[in-house]
Order: sequence, then C-alpha cells, then structure tokens
Amino acid sequence: MKRQNDYSIDLFGSDNLEQAAALLELNWQFRSSRALMAAQQLGFFKALAKPRQAAQVALKCGTDPQMTEKLLTVCCALGVLKRDGRLFSLTKLGCDILLPDSPRYIGGVIGHNELLWWATTGLPEWVRTGRRDAAPEPPDHFKQHLFDNWIWAMHGIASNGQAQWVAGQLDLNDRKLLLDVAGGPGTYSIALCQRFPHLKAVVWDLPDTLAIARQVIDRFGMSRRIKIQAGDWSKEEFGSGYDCLLMSNILHGPGSHADTRLKQARTALKRGGLLIVHDFMLNNDRSGPLPAALFNLWLGTYTVSELLALIRKAGFADVSLIAGNSQRGSGLITARRP
Ligand SMILES: C[S@@+](CC[C@H](N)C(=O)[O-])C[C@H]1O[C@@H](n2cnc3c(N)ncnc32)[C@H](O)[C@@H]1O
Repeated sequence: MKRQNDYSIDLFGSDNLEQAAALLELNWQFRSSRALMAAQQLGFFKALAKPRQAAQVALKCGTDPQMTEKLLTVCCALGVLKRDGRLFSLTKLGCDILLPDSPRYIGGVIGHNELLWWATTGLPEWVRTGRRDAAPEPPDHFKQHLFDNWIWAMHGIASNGQAQWVAGQLDLNDRKLLLDVAGGPGTYSIALCQRFPHLKAVVWDLPDTLAIARQVIDRFGMSRRIKIQAGDWSKEEFGSGYDCLLMSNILHGPGSHADTRLKQARTALKRGGLLIVHDFMLNNDRSGPLPAALFNLWLGTYTVSELLALIRKAGFADVSLIAGNSQRGSGLITARRP
C-alpha cells in the first residue's frame, strides 16, 4: 500500500481547482464593491459628467489627488470610466447607469448596498443570538438617503435586466389594464407596457414611493399609459376591474402577509384575470439558488412549492411556475382568477 505523507497530495490532480478559484474570487470581490461605493459616495461620477483630470476631480470632490487617481484607475478597470492620457471620462456604460439622470441609474443600488454593508457586519452576532438588532447601526449620513436609495435601487435592479427578463417570459397581448401592486418605481410596468403596446398600467404604492415612480415613468416617456395610484395595503383594498395584476418582490416569506395580499389581489382581478407573481424563490429542497438563499438570510424567501400552495389557497386556478432564473434566484408564477 502507498504510504501517505505530505508529498502524496498532487497539486496538479485536483479536480475542483476552478470552483475553488471562483469562490476565492467571490471572496475578494468586496474590494471592487467598496471602490465603487467610495467613488459614488465621493461624487466622482457626477464630477465626470464632463471629462476631467484626476487632480481636477480631486479639487471638485475635496479628495486627495493621488488616491483619487488610484480610485479612478479602479473604475476604469471596472469598465465605467476610460482614460485618455491624463483625462478621465465616463464610458457608454458609465453614462447609462451612473449619472443621477441616467436611464438605468444604479446609484440607488450602490447606496442601498452600502447600508447593507453595515447591517451585514453584524451577521455573526445575529446568527449567534437570533436577534437582528445585534447588528451595528450605520452612521447617520447613510440613513438620510435610506428610503430614496431603496426605491431607486429597485429601479436599478429591474432596469438592468430583471424587468426585461420578466417581460420576455409573459404574453400579455390580450390584456388591457395591469395593476402593479406595490410597484415601487414602476420599472416593471414600463417594461411590460413597452413590450405590449396595447397594455396600460396603474402603479399602486405608498405616496412617498410614487413620488419616485412619477420621475421614472416621466423619464421613460410613459406617463400617458402608466398612471400612479396611492394606497396602503394594510388599510385599503387594491381596487377592482383589472385583467392582469403583478406582485413583484412583495411576497417575501412568512413576514410578508402573503395570504392576505393574495386575497386582496383576487378581489382586484376580473374573472379570468391573470395574476403574475415575481419573486425570489428557493428550490423545493432549499439548496439554493444563491441569490434566493441570501435573500432568505436577510428577509425571508418561500420555496417554489410553498408559493404555489399559497396562491392556490387564495382561490386561484391554473397556478404554475412559468420560468425560473437561477442566476438571479427569481421565479415567475402565473395563475388565473376563476
Ligand atoms: C421590495 S419593493 C418592490 C417594488 C417593485 N414591485 C419591484 O419589484 O421592484 C416593495 C414595495 O412595497 C411598497 N410598500 C411597502 N409597504 C406598503 C404598504 N403598506 N402599502 C403599499 N405598498 C407598500 C414599497 O413602497 C415598495 O415599493
């Protein structure tokens, strides 16, 4: 028998090197996140609405010129800036997503993630004690923009692939009026109305959220077809007479009162009306996918079969999962009001 010693492990014979390297890479990625957050927080992208040298950006943002140059270099490597000699400017991607009036602005996502950064430093303590309030409080200046960042984050996430994916899975050619319950910035309604030219939509949400939805809808020139309507689901019904209804990212596990919200949705739909549920969903064996497992850690996520059962229990028929996106951890369920 071969004697086992330190030299018997063959470094070249490992069959999971790529997986290990990918996991290591993931573990390092926080440095890129922090660099992007810092550049956003310091106002570098706004300062580069027109091309500037690092020293000029530093002057405008009140930062150290040498460190500014280094951080701008990272942003070039991330693909959002380019440099021409000493001059830095936004790439096409940077223009599309990083200026406050960019169509697919992700500044809210970056700001929101900065808050999560603080919250997640308390994860070991949270897991140890089971008490979420064990997480450290973020500094006050992060909290000022908490709400706006959250709503704009939804737009950044939806407009950079998720809303296009959702719209691509559905056929709403025969539907006329969509109710987007807790539609946030209205991005899913925009994508659906862009894809289905006969569709009109109502984005129903709290008044503060709708102030941002108004801006987003105007930015996309959709105010003729997408209306906003203020409502609070803890006090009011959603209305009635809709032939389709979207519930996107609101049925987040047991804390979301999904059973009540689904009954409210049933009342709002006409007979034959289509319910569309879009959310994070865990595999039935609760093994992933990763984005859904992470969302479950912070907030709560149903498995696919739990959600299907809840929707059936609320009185819907033809309930089925029509698409899943394991990369994003989300699924799309449709059902019919009998
Ligand atoms: C996670 S977001 C989902 C937004 C959007 N549907 C999406 O998928 O991006 C949850 C939404 O629920 C809304 N909301 C929270 N409490 C509400 C309430 N009591 N009544 C109505 N909407 C509420 C928030 O304003 C927010 O827009």
